[in-house]
Amino acid sequence: MAKVTFVNVDRPALEGVAIPARVYKSSEEAVKDVARNAAGLVEARRQEGTPCVLGLPTGSTPVGVYRELVRMHRDEGLSFNHAITFNLDEYLPIPNDDPNSFQQFMRDQFFNHVDVKENNLHIPDGTTPIAEVDRHAEEYEAAIAEAGGFDLMLLGIGRTGHIGFNEPGSAPDSRTRRVELSAETRHDAAKAFGGLDNVPTHAITMGLQTMFQAERIVLLAFGEHKAEAVRKALEEPPSSDCPASLLQRHESVAFVLDEAAASGLSRMSG
Ligand code: F6R
Repeated sequence: MAKVTFVNVDRPALEGVAIPARVYKSSEEAVKDVARNAAGLVEARRQEGTPCVLGLPTGSTPVGVYRELVRMHRDEGLSFNHAITFNLDEYLPIPNDDPNSFQQFMRDQFFNHVDVKENNLHIPDGTTPIAEVDRHAEEYEAAIAEAGGFDLMLLGIGRTGHIGFNEPGSAPDSRTRRVELSAETRHDAAKAFGGLDNVPTHAITMGLQTMFQAERIVLLAFGEHKAEAVRKALEEPPSSDCPASLLQRHESVAFVLDEAAASGLSRMSG
């Protein structure tokens, strides 16, 4: 199987930083580079005739990556008909067609505009009754295993340092499960939901262990509001207090940052 390496993974780590990090002048420049690298991997798998298994985030951070991948599909013939996708998380409960559901987000931003097969899309189901969540989570894990594990996991990061919805305190060996959202995470979602009271208190998220089995991981962070979480993830010892810092133990992970998100790093200010 051809090894496709992200340019940022090859770059030496910034001094004093535990994970290779690439800092871009702007997020626009960063998302184009990530999309170009992801497209290279997708295309390499297509040429080999093997599926390309992707872990995908929602939120404001990856929007530009999806936009660029859609453009490459439309203008350059990039095909996703051999891609198998698993989203990281979903609110619980939430109707599938709720404008704030991650199901709806992915269809609007990406799936409706490319040739990925409906049967190959996986998003935790926000309509799952509480009594059935454990079974649903097990099935999600089984589907990931059946797909053969992730070629690429794209991640964002929350201000709490969460990845997926693995909030502080999440165990490194956690699996897909129901979780309670932190106050800060709910606060950040309040505007979109038209008020804090409308934000679900819980979610289903892929576990940290599930994510860490990916062959390569790329975490994107843009904006000054992410600077403190990025600093903790890169400069403090790995700890469940900042789940993203546990990525330091993964062999092939890269952070893609804009200057604002990197502004808390001692390497940048020193
Ligand atoms: C969403 C997810 C979250 C987000 C994070 C950042 O699927 O997994 O971890 O990546 O909350 O959200 P944004 O990009 O909106 O700042």
